[in-house]
Amino acid sequence: MLPDPRQEASAGGSGAFRRDPDVGRGRSIRLVVDDAVVEAFEGESLGVALAVSGRLLLRHSPNAQTPRGMFCLMGVCQECVVEVDGALAASCMVEARDGMVVSTDVLARARASTGGGG
Ligand code: FES
Repeated sequence: MLPDPRQEASAGGSGAFRRDPDVGRGRSIRLVVDDAVVEAFEGESLGVALAVSGRLLLRHSPNAQTPRGMFCLMGVCQECVVEVDGALAASCMVEARDGMVVSTDVLARARASTGGGG
């Protein structure tokens, strides 16, 4: 059985998930994502908050309708685009804020509501 890197780290080990004791976590905040409340921490990217809440599918590609989620985590691929307070944004590049309203897969929802195809 492999050692759990989180336990190893909390025991002061050198695991891949070692936590630096000098790095603190921001205060707890709440976002509204697809009409559900999601807990996050100040200072996290929206993309990380979405992933931690289990939201890995963020949109579908416009032509092939294939599922998309975070890929590069540095603002290049645009696979993580969601609607934030009414405007499209790459979730990996946006800092999570208390009260932020987020919608995932907005193009597919708009397409479904109009009964339209691509
Ligand atoms: S994951 Fe590539 S732009 Fe966000």
